[in-house]
Amino acid sequence: MPPGQPYPTGANNTRRTRPSKKMATKLAALIVLVAFLAGPPACEGDIICFNGWLKLPIQDPRLCPQGSMSRMNGRTRALVPVPRPSGLGLGLGYYNNRSSRSYCPRAEGIVRDAVSKAVAAQPGIGAGLIRLFFHDCFVRGCDASVLLTTTNSNNSDTEREGNPNKNSLRGLEVIDAAKAKIEAACPGRVSCADIVAFAARDASSILSNRRINIRMPGGRYDGRESFSNETDQLPGPFSGATVLLSNFKAKGLTSDEMVTLSGAHTIGRARCAFFSSRFSEMDPTFAAKLKAQCNDDDTNVDQEHVTPEVLDKRYYQDVIDGKALFTSDAVLNSAETIKQVTENAKKAGAWERKFERAMENLGKIGVKTKADKDAEIRKVCWKVNN
Ligand code: HEM
Repeated sequence: MPPGQPYPTGANNTRRTRPSKKMATKLAALIVLVAFLAGPPACEGDIICFNGWLKLPIQDPRLCPQGSMSRMNGRTRALVPVPRPSGLGLGLGYYNNRSSRSYCPRAEGIVRDAVSKAVAAQPGIGAGLIRLFFHDCFVRGCDASVLLTTTNSNNSDTEREGNPNKNSLRGLEVIDAAKAKIEAACPGRVSCADIVAFAARDASSILSNRRINIRMPGGRYDGRESFSNETDQLPGPFSGATVLLSNFKAKGLTSDEMVTLSGAHTIGRARCAFFSSRFSEMDPTFAAKLKAQCNDDDTNVDQEHVTPEVLDKRYYQDVIDGKALFTSDAVLNSAETIKQVTENAKKAGAWERKFERAMENLGKIGVKTKADKDAEIRKVCWKVNN
């Protein structure tokens, strides 16, 4: 994308790409060949598979024994113990401190206004903003690397081009609008990473009818690099339970936080490509309804069918009832996580409190601060400063 041109907004995306079937077939053929040459894997840790964003047409159980095609993620990252995200350097009301060089008392209000307007016009944008925060924080930490279209090393194959993000992210224009206003009010003080975090907080509050109030600190700095291949750290819709847990553990988050944050799938939309292979595993009436909606792989449907625009605990009842869309949702019914799912579904207010805390912790992953040499406060959110 040429410099000076804003990135395409998710809101206007009508064409959405899906993982290439041709590529998946080639990859599948290759791994099957390798499998036969190599013989059965010695242990799970030796298996090389794909991250959960590709549903391969051929699955060799010797390669991915539990039907999960996302071992690579889990395997490489589960081995190293990762500390809990510390969020060192962050603080509540960070921009309200008069004696600080970051003083910008209007910052959080500007974000709130931008998000309120956008969500009032289209609630799905709120879902997009919550997801944007997750996708930012899981790759290189919460440093707004997800927003870049060009980087310090002149890379244009950024996270935005990765499978989980391409033609899928929504709400980018809200971040841009807020940033432009904030820059006009107090130039060079408020990071894009903080704007993404505040926007996710505000979208959660609005879509939950103020039942979810996240205490989101500020003080993050923006990163200067972004690479599409690093988005393989994001779990995919075809990921199994082991992989999901490993992915979250790799970021210092717990199994309970994984289950809690997955509850965000109670809002927003999803493409049929990501769940049409598992209609037979769903509640039959629900599957029939979805089948009727899915004209092709790129059709979007509501992720939750009862209260699709409300951030509530409804998702967990759907998981129990076989009305969840992705494999990654349905596997929460497994032994390791079913207790949390049931609790979240039944106990009033319990999930909302857990979601508040889990979002706070998500926002503390890999945070960059003033002290980091490769960090800055960007002037515009989609490119690094010169
Ligand atoms: C646990 C692993 C997760 C997987 C495998 C996953 C996967 C996905 C996929 C495949 C979509 C649909 C994308 C598309 O069709 O273009 C989606 C949508 C969404 N995800 Fe996740 N996700 C996960 C966790 C999370 C978390 C932790 C959050 C937030 C805290 C989140 C929030 C959302 C939201 C709000 C949407 C709807 C976005 C929109 O409507 O624009 N997801 N997710």
